[in-house]
Amino acid sequence: MSKIAQIHNKFIEKNRVAELGGGSDKIVKQHQSGKLTARERIDVLLDKGTFVELDKFVVHKCTNFGMDKTKIPGDGIVSGYGKVDGRLVYVYAYDFTVFGGSLSRTNADKIVKLQKMALKMGAPVIALNDSGGARIQEGVSSLAGYGDIFFQNTIASGVIPQLSVILGPCAGGACYSPALTDFIFMVKEKSHMFVTGPDVVKTVTHEDVSKEELGGAVTHSTKSGVAHFMGNTEEETLMMVRELLSFLPSNNMEDAPVEPTMDDVTREDVSLNDIVPADPNKPYDIKELIEAVVDDKYFFEVMPGFAQNIVVGFARMGGKTVGIVANQPAFYAGVLDIDASDKGARFIRFCDCFNIPIITFEDVPGFLPGTLQEQNGIIRHGAKIVYAYVEATVPKITIITRKAYGGAYIVMSSKHTGSDVNFAYPNAEIAVMGAAGAVNILYRNSSEEEKAAALKEYEEMFSNPYRAAELGYIDEIILPQQTRAKIIQALDMTHTKIRTNPAKKHGNIPL
Ligand code: HXC
Repeated sequence: MSKIAQIHNKFIEKNRVAELGGGSDKIVKQHQSGKLTARERIDVLLDKGTFVELDKFVVHKCTNFGMDKTKIPGDGIVSGYGKVDGRLVYVYAYDFTVFGGSLSRTNADKIVKLQKMALKMGAPVIALNDSGGARIQEGVSSLAGYGDIFFQNTIASGVIPQLSVILGPCAGGACYSPALTDFIFMVKEKSHMFVTGPDVVKTVTHEDVSKEELGGAVTHSTKSGVAHFMGNTEEETLMMVRELLSFLPSNNMEDAPVEPTMDDVTREDVSLNDIVPADPNKPYDIKELIEAVVDDKYFFEVMPGFAQNIVVGFARMGGKTVGIVANQPAFYAGVLDIDASDKGARFIRFCDCFNIPIITFEDVPGFLPGTLQEQNGIIRHGAKIVYAYVEATVPKITIITRKAYGGAYIVMSSKHTGSDVNFAYPNAEIAVMGAAGAVNILYRNSSEEEKAAALKEYEEMFSNPYRAAELGYIDEIILPQQTRAKIIQALDMTHTKIRTNPAKKHGNIPL
């Protein structure tokens, strides 16, 4: 065999070994536990054949506990870049077959290198997590590695999209890198996130709790609000990542890609005239209205299971990505509470970071009253949504579909808090509160006849959008069937909006 052939064979063999990660037995174990390997996951996620692996032969430097005898090429991270729908992305995947995907100093260095490269090139980073946390044998070096990753997560926040996919365990401080990124995806029954696991919980609080209940995908998608998307399988979850990316620009200096559509920008839909009931107390599903308005009736919802009284997500209008924020009258009458405020505010800020116009559909009875809400800080949390709307410099368009009562009227992207174009349907009610509530306060001691007369007067004065329109607080009263065309016109008109706030280090959003 020629010298060059020998060199080539060695190269092929070295690559084969590196690609086996922790070895065939560990790969079998990974499959038996219903999980894909790091490389298989990357293959599913990226466009076929586009992955370029970096640092494939990097090894850990630990000599404690006999670790110098077990050096695996690449250590516990597979990292590199590739394409999603032809667009550049950076990806790193924890390899559970190598010391349980635990984070060594070397692994952290590989991740940080990738994060810096992604920031420099202006492309998203996707982290595929499946890890036992800090590599125990390395002690503080591993913890330092986490710190370096968190630092880069924070510096890159708002510059490039950062997505975290949890595909196995993610425990302890390791949760904070995903938590610092923009969106977290989890897989039902396969992924778990907790700061302290069930055993520690049992020791400290004597509470018996399963890992599923403590930090499973359902818990984080419905109760804690930590996760934004949940898939049934790894493959389905990774497809959701691809789909989300299709709505986003690669960085904060770009606009999101335009997706040509056959859906007519002037399309009117008479079915919209019947979606919102005349009775202000009757529920309806705002998602039906959103779907009737957006391109091809397709709405990609974010956090569908958490704080369902507010609906947020992405869609396209005239081919361009928009962020939708909508009160949901079908769930707790669309009331604003602590969780809804947090969910709405974070989504608004994401859209603003990445040049995505915000469309608000408003039908809100107000903030949720009660001790639980007050004592848990509805004032502090409610303030976030006001702050987020005011601070956002992207085009903001609001449609009041029915109720716009009280503080919630001001909060939900009113003219006063900086919205650019405000529409109302003819049946909209813009008032301090509903007519019955107002009469009960003002005419508490009056006769039934006086109350009935007052109710009629209040309804005539406030249960319509014309008083607000007279004052210029509503730009245009539109028929529901015109919604799509009117929003697209407004998007077109606001396209050249000058987007600046006064220079400052950063604001102080109530947290
Ligand atoms: C080194 C680890 C490891 C770790 C797992 N392994 N976690 N090696 N450091 N943190 C190794 C195991 O020894 C085992 O090696 C292999 O990975 C697979 O682990 P198993 O336990 O066999 O797998 P499984 O039964 O699926 O359980 C997975 C697990 C469990 C739930 C993750 O391994 C576990 O509880 N690990 C410890 C988790 C932990 O406490 N981490 C530290 C958290 S504190 P062999 O050779 O037997 O196959 C932390 C601080 C971060 O992370 C702070 C950041 C600021």
